[in-house]
Amino acid sequence: MILVTGATGTVGRAVIDRLRVLGTPVRALVRRPETANLPADIDVVRGDLGAPESLAAALDGVDSVFLLSAGPEIPVHDANVAAAAIRAGVRHLVKLSSGRAGDEAATDPIPAWHRAGEQAVRASGIDWTMVRPLGFMSNALHWAPGIRAVDTVRAPYGQGRIAVVDPEDIAAVAVAALTETGHAGRIYTLSGPQALAPGEQTGILAEVLGRPLRYEEISAAEAHTALLGFGVAPDMADAIMSLRATALESFTSVVHPSVEEVTGRPPRSFAEWATAHRAEFVTV
Ligand SMILES: NC(=O)c1ccc[n+]([C@@H]2O[C@H](COP(=O)([O-])OP(=O)(O)OC[C@H]3O[C@@H](n4cnc5c(N)ncnc54)[C@H](OP(=O)(O)O)[C@@H]3O)[C@@H](O)[C@H]2O)c1
Repeated sequence: MILVTGATGTVGRAVIDRLRVLGTPVRALVRRPETANLPADIDVVRGDLGAPESLAAALDGVDSVFLLSAGPEIPVHDANVAAAAIRAGVRHLVKLSSGRAGDEAATDPIPAWHRAGEQAVRASGIDWTMVRPLGFMSNALHWAPGIRAVDTVRAPYGQGRIAVVDPEDIAAVAVAALTETGHAGRIYTLSGPQALAPGEQTGILAEVLGRPLRYEEISAAEAHTALLGFGVAPDMADAIMSLRATALESFTSVVHPSVEEVTGRPPRSFAEWATAHRAEFVTV
């Protein structure tokens, strides 16, 4: 049995779907089962990464855990899960971390949270695999309202290139680590096949959508205000903006071979991701 946390989110749901295809028994830990909208054959349990008492039942009979945690609570939540997993006799834990957790120079909040979470997992003594993606291709979905309304992508750091990765490839690597041997103690930094600036991503989206789109560079302050407008909490908006500023650093533009090394096939391109998500840029 594999326990998946973050099962209602982007990567967690992709992990669930891939494990189902393999026929692997899956349990999902979710905060609100009534709105989780998961397939009927998934064993859904109510739990919260911040409530250790809910983790023991969720981990009963589990061999491996996919640990997805988010936000400032990452260090505490990762420590909770690792400790409960050891107590439950879990064999292996695969943590979704951040590419920049491996950047020694990165002192901004999100990589620091993940570094502390990784440390808690390592210190627990469980067998672990760290999956460290660079920026997700799916972050481009934040541009969908502007594309639908005014054919315009408004984003900061126009000179910054990120080797964005498809969440499906992240899930594929995580599932390999969860279901195959030989991944314990490994750290996989994941990228897509190409580093792209937001203007270049806009050009690819325009080709996929078959109409001209405009890229407009905005200031970091404007982007911060937009995040608040999306309902992002102020401390999280600060953390995200600190992370976005690092698009100007070379670390995030490096292409890594790990997706192909682990899955045996090359990572999907941004054009492939955009084609798969075309409808979300066209209709609400
Ligand atoms: N976006 C990027 O570019 C990027 C790059 C590298 C790494 N990352 C990392 O990727 C992770 C986010 O992945 P994602 O985008 O797939 O996630 P997501 O779509 O934002 O979903 C977050 C998931 O976590 C669950 N969750 C939140 N708090 C919880 C709690 N206290 N107890 C149990 N479950 C909880 C949510 O469940 P509910 O349904 O209950 O809300 C949801 O399923 C973060 O760790 C982030 O740092 C992101």
